[in-house]
Amino acid sequence: MEKVISEFIKLCSDGYALGWHERNGGNLSYRMKDEDVKETRHLMKKEGRHYDLPLSCSGLSGEYFLITGSGKYMRNVSLAPEENIGIIRLDDDGKGYTILWGLENGAKPTSEIPTHLLNHEVRKKVSGDTNRVIYHAHPANITALSYTIEPDAKTLTRILWQSETECAVVFPEGVGILDWMMPGSVEIGVETSRLIGKYRAVVWAFHGIFGCGDTLDEAFGLIHTIEKAAEIYLKAKSAGIIRSIKDEDLVSLASYFSVNLNTEFIEN
Ligand code: 13P
Ligand code: ZN
Repeated sequence: MEKVISEFIKLCSDGYALGWHERNGGNLSYRMKDEDVKETRHLMKKEGRHYDLPLSCSGLSGEYFLITGSGKYMRNVSLAPEENIGIIRLDDDGKGYTILWGLENGAKPTSEIPTHLLNHEVRKKVSGDTNRVIYHAHPANITALSYTIEPDAKTLTRILWQSETECAVVFPEGVGILDWMMPGSVEIGVETSRLIGKYRAVVWAFHGIFGCGDTLDEAFGLIHTIEKAAEIYLKAKSAGIIRSIKDEDLVSLASYFSVNLNTEFIEN
């Protein structure tokens, strides 16, 4: 198995093992490097099925992506990669794509393709071309937490930063949150991509979370840290919270680990 494909499959299996991917819940895309395209070129068709996109992503024209299929189960990806994931190439004008490998038997890329591509376009720009992964999961704790707060990034971020000491270091910029919107729509993609330039993770209220990273490990680790903090918060809240990490400790942490803490979310 080609290295890039097996690493992609590993994330699908790891996310499933943690219970984040019931049924077809969640999806993953990876913007391939030239060396990844070279490594997998022999698998790709000369001509594949072509589809128009409901949006235009000129910032990604000609790019290749590994992407999960719509309606496909993460638990099945390792068993039959060609049926559940695929490689697509974006058209030169960014208005459509061709399936060059996988997604067999008429399968299509995830219905969240608008959010994936719009997020890639923004992250490619703000990261200076290093961000390659966009990951969507349905972890129970962060989703449950979204029922307990207003959809406000400061409120959410402060809860998470205070719930686990590592959090301020792992996501010093904070975590964004979108109020409920229609999944799979271009609109939710546009709104998510507005936030993902500032925050590397965005919670979709009552639904799940999107995260990104330069590598599959980074994107997975980010979501894992957020989900764990949400779990700790909900457990502590049900047991009764009597004290928490102080703002001055968050500031010291950031300075000790040399990260740029978003001070808009610090109160005193
Ligand atoms: P897909 O099966 O189309 O990837 O959709 C799953 C999902 O999580 C929608 O938000
Ligand atoms: Zn979803």
